[in-house]
Amino acid sequence: MAPNAPTPNAPTAHAVLAPLLSPAEADAVVDVWLGFPSYGLYSNESAPARFAPELAQRYDATVNFIRTGGRFGRAAEAKSMLAARTNYFRETYAYGEEITAPGIEPFFANDRLMQAARDLHGRPVVVPAIVYANILLPGQELAVHTDVPEFRGANRKVVPQWLLVVAHHSGLFDAWRMPIATIISYFGGGRGGELAYYPEGPAGPPQTYAPTHNSAMVLDTDSVFHGVDRVLGDDSAITLLRPGMRLHYEGGDRWAVRDPARPDHVVAQFGSDEVRYSLSWKAYCFADDAERLAWDSHSDDLTLGAILDGLVADLCDKGVLSSVDHGLSDAELGKLLIETYVKFPAPAPAPA
Ligand SMILES: [Fe+2]
Repeated sequence: MAPNAPTPNAPTAHAVLAPLLSPAEADAVVDVWLGFPSYGLYSNESAPARFAPELAQRYDATVNFIRTGGRFGRAAEAKSMLAARTNYFRETYAYGEEITAPGIEPFFANDRLMQAARDLHGRPVVVPAIVYANILLPGQELAVHTDVPEFRGANRKVVPQWLLVVAHHSGLFDAWRMPIATIISYFGGGRGGELAYYPEGPAGPPQTYAPTHNSAMVLDTDSVFHGVDRVLGDDSAITLLRPGMRLHYEGGDRWAVRDPARPDHVVAQFGSDEVRYSLSWKAYCFADDAERLAWDSHSDDLTLGAILDGLVADLCDKGVLSSVDHGLSDAELGKLLIETYVKFPAPAPAPA
């Protein structure tokens, strides 16, 4: 039996793949990137929460970002500007059997990525789960966070994303956890936008990876805190972004943000070398076929109720709560859970 994937506080493996693909394979990915009709804002994505709907899906990371001002402690910046910095573009290319970006199939099933996923967790049965594209504009960055993990029966469709994060950080539900390998790959140009990550845990020093075309970082992003440092360039356009706006490739090296409500109006324009493009590839990593079968057959699922009961019992054991009849609202309990279990890295001094 392969070991379980590490908890968020343990040192974890990671690897750089450079070059990631053959030149022809990389060109094919770029064709998919440029050929995709347009890219929407990630903040438009939402799913109704079944527990504490008052808390935003990534309440954990957002509150930490606003509170600290990000990795370099720029808390003095206006909250509206901080929000604009993380309001980036994202589109899903493949999700299980569903392909929304034709041409991405060879990348989704690429042998090099599959082997890197096996190597990361030491788990031989790898099932690709998703590929999505991220595009950050100059001035944008990603708050330090861990990704939304998944447990057998408990995923983002039934459990709030922040609660899945709490569940993983608590270490209480490792028996149900689906270890996931994430490969963040980069194509094209852009300045800045380094990947910052904490392979020794939140108390350890961060490392950074400066992206280059056709390269990738392999990481357990559910366990390793990570973020994206600011993309360099003129950041004046990001405050113009509004819900519903989309980023279009307009030929040559031109990109434009457009508002569907005003089709003839260009909100902002960028060159290809100004935007930072990455693909996130994620795969489930099973120890053996029996484990994969348990996932397929739902024979040993974790429920929302079991997660909440287990966490509240643990809070009582820790003395954080005096009784399971704590009288807190769902949102109050949620904030207490995040505060107790999700220990973010401390911000570093701002670069000169
Ligand atoms: Fe992430």
